[in-house]
Amino acid sequence: MKSKASINSHPIHPMLVSFPIAFFTGTLLFDVLAIVQENDGYWQTGLYLEAAGIAAAVFAAVPGIIDYVATVPPKSSGKKRATRHALLNAGMLVLFILALVLRGDRLYMPFLIIGLELAGMVLLVFAGWMGGTLVYRNQIGVDPRYAGAGKWKEEFLQGDGPVIVAEENELGLNQMKLVHLKGQRIVIGKTEEGYVAFEDRCPHRGGSLAGGPLICGTVQCPWHGSQFNVKTGAVYAGPSKEGIRVFPLVEANGKIYLNYHQRD
Ligand code: FES
Repeated sequence: MKSKASINSHPIHPMLVSFPIAFFTGTLLFDVLAIVQENDGYWQTGLYLEAAGIAAAVFAAVPGIIDYVATVPPKSSGKKRATRHALLNAGMLVLFILALVLRGDRLYMPFLIIGLELAGMVLLVFAGWMGGTLVYRNQIGVDPRYAGAGKWKEEFLQGDGPVIVAEENELGLNQMKLVHLKGQRIVIGKTEEGYVAFEDRCPHRGGSLAGGPLICGTVQCPWHGSQFNVKTGAVYAGPSKEGIRVFPLVEANGKIYLNYHQRD
């Protein structure tokens, strides 16, 4: 899924996270050195690094939150993983803030401060591990469009009754776009037999189908490869055992209409 917080298709969150990682690692190293060598200068450096790490972490969290809300597919394994990633990072931040607050008492509780920072680093490593999985497995922030898929398109539509979801010549063959209508994510695609509309959610683990390839009336989930007939919704290949929901479209006067109804 293409990131909503990006510059020229480059997601901002992964660009920024290297700063708090570097600052917090430096904090721990300088604090340990300060205690081993009884060096106040190192302790002071650790303080500056810790403050910089906290500021950088808060700054990096902003595009992360935007992607969490707007990019990670809802009701998916990726969303659960992103929630754990966010909670681990929040816990890590609290530990470093606590360590910063207690720094004035280095003479009395240096090992408590080092312990808090060490625990923060452990959380940071696990959070980073999950962040990597979110990118490399769940493709969050990745635009996995195959050749000929066209430019990524996403629209937020409103209205009751039939809503125009595309123009007749808007998409090329096998191209798709994602529309949001009444809180539902719907993929509009063009096949050899005309336009189709289907739910943007793979029943296996909630992957977004809008980022997968559409070929000969079959869409493939980019997460684990399940394949679906986009006209009937039937599943062709697993791991998904269920099909997808499809929606009827009406073509009139060069426009494609969708009359969406919530499922009972
Ligand atoms: S989420 Fe696993 S195949 Fe789609």
